[in-house]
Amino acid sequence: MRHLLDTTDLSVKEIDDLIALAMDIIANKDKYSSVCNGKKLATLFFEPSTRTRLSFEAAMMELGGNVLGFSEAGTSSASKGETVGDTIKIVSCYADIIAMRHPLEGAPRVATYKTDVPVINAGDGGHSHPTQTLTDLLTIFREKGRFDNLTIGLCGDLKFGRTVHSLIKAMCRYSNIKFVLISPKELSVPDYIKTDYLEEQGMEYIETEDMEAAMPSLDILYMTRIQRERFFSEDEYLKHKDAFILDVDKLENAKADLTIMHPLPRVNEITTAVDEDPRAKYFEQALNGKYIRMALIITLLKWGGVL
Ligand code: CP
Repeated sequence: MRHLLDTTDLSVKEIDDLIALAMDIIANKDKYSSVCNGKKLATLFFEPSTRTRLSFEAAMMELGGNVLGFSEAGTSSASKGETVGDTIKIVSCYADIIAMRHPLEGAPRVATYKTDVPVINAGDGGHSHPTQTLTDLLTIFREKGRFDNLTIGLCGDLKFGRTVHSLIKAMCRYSNIKFVLISPKELSVPDYIKTDYLEEQGMEYIETEDMEAAMPSLDILYMTRIQRERFFSEDEYLKHKDAFILDVDKLENAKADLTIMHPLPRVNEITTAVDEDPRAKYFEQALNGKYIRMALIITLLKWGGVL
């Protein structure tokens, strides 16, 4: 039985297998429509979500399984003071697999100590969001056909943006990857990501505040929103909220085969006019999230001996 708490819980080979399974699901949807008959996924979301929760639920439904759960802590007994550990122990009596989002970093790890069903981290505070990374990897694979020889620009709130942290950890394992980290100095990538991943793996990276200067070199531009809910004061958020806005003009010197990604939700960091650019792939990215979560549910249930 395995959990998914962080991207690095999966080997490169296991990620390749998940991508291959997702590609087969995309090509042969009917083959998978009853794979999870009689199985239940619990989605425990102590923090808001649109894509992650609904794509998990759609994924399980398209596999023939069922879904139960809650979409905010206020509708669960957490609001009466029940601990995460007790909540997970109870839900384990009702479900075969659990996807959990929580504002506290490490909460999904605590959950794994209290259950005998697989737990998937669907985002924990500013720490990690591994299923978003699997979504991003499937998108990169479908757009580029490879995970190596890429220059990846990560732009926006790189301090609190957990999807950025997870994606860097994942991409550090491929060859000839260059990172261009575009952020205000106050919102740069946390030191542990630099020391334990970028520097430990000998990755080439630069930090800059100049998106337009970086643009011509990029194969992928991964935009992120400024994470308002993680700031200590509204004033700090307001200072940074319009730091980077991608518009049509800023793409003038971009590569013809640039892939523009964003984990979404978008606030104002990509203008809607960019949506018409064929290089904008963030809505396809959200759809890929459903397919890779289908592959992940099947895989974790198989590893757990449930399928
Ligand atoms: N990308 C992402 O995690 O979106 P949601 O917060 O809507 O789930």
